[in-house]
Amino acid sequence: MPRSDASGTATQVEATGSVQLCAPTVDDGADMWRLAGAAQTLDVNSRYSYLLWCRDFAATSVVARDGEQLAGFITGYRRPSLPETLFVWQVAVSPTHRRQGLARRMLDHLVDRSTPHGVDHVEATVTPDNLPSTRLFTSFATAYGVELKRDVLFSEAMLGDGHEAEVRFLIGPLHDRT
Ligand SMILES: CC(C)(COP(=O)(O)OP(=O)(O)OC[C@H]1O[C@@H](n2cnc3c(N)ncnc32)[C@H](O)[C@@H]1OP(=O)(O)O)[C@@H](O)C(=O)NCCC(=O)NCCS
Repeated sequence: MPRSDASGTATQVEATGSVQLCAPTVDDGADMWRLAGAAQTLDVNSRYSYLLWCRDFAATSVVARDGEQLAGFITGYRRPSLPETLFVWQVAVSPTHRRQGLARRMLDHLVDRSTPHGVDHVEATVTPDNLPSTRLFTSFATAYGVELKRDVLFSEAMLGDGHEAEVRFLIGPLHDRT
């Protein structure tokens, strides 16, 4: 089923079972903000920022809808100074949809959408205590058969407030999957 993004462009929808993946529209922003809050391990941004994200970065983001419910989302962007790198900012899956491969499906969907446009690396940051997130990106790198390099992007001192360090995962080079 085609949907329209903020620019009115029809976007591709991928459906498996009752869950549909597609680029977000501004109508998804409030639900993304709520899901980010419910996830508990995420730094929750303002509601406004999710709306703005859906308007301006829909092409590098994805939502998973299960009927009326938002089952998950990924927000991402192409680095302005390095547009072949897709930075995956936040990944969230609702508690009722976890451990069913949905985060991997969303990441694969986003990368499949991005590689034809020149993206050849995925970058993300993960806090060392976040095993599900670590497993998500290591599983992705393994499936692609590519290297995953790690270094600290932002230290505890830089982040403050007792925030753990954010470890950068750089995955690639990616190739179009056949
Ligand atoms: C991280 C998160 C998005 C994973 O979503 P998910 O749909 O449950 O993940 P998937 O089912 O696609 O699993 C991806 C991989 O992680 C592993 N995994 C997922 N949850 C796990 C857990 N709780 N413990 C251990 N491994 C886990 C899976 O086994 C899978 O690895 P595999 O392919 O080697 O088997 C979800 O747990 C979440 O929303 N957490 C809160 C928000 C957050 O911390 N986001 C990440 C930081 S931005």
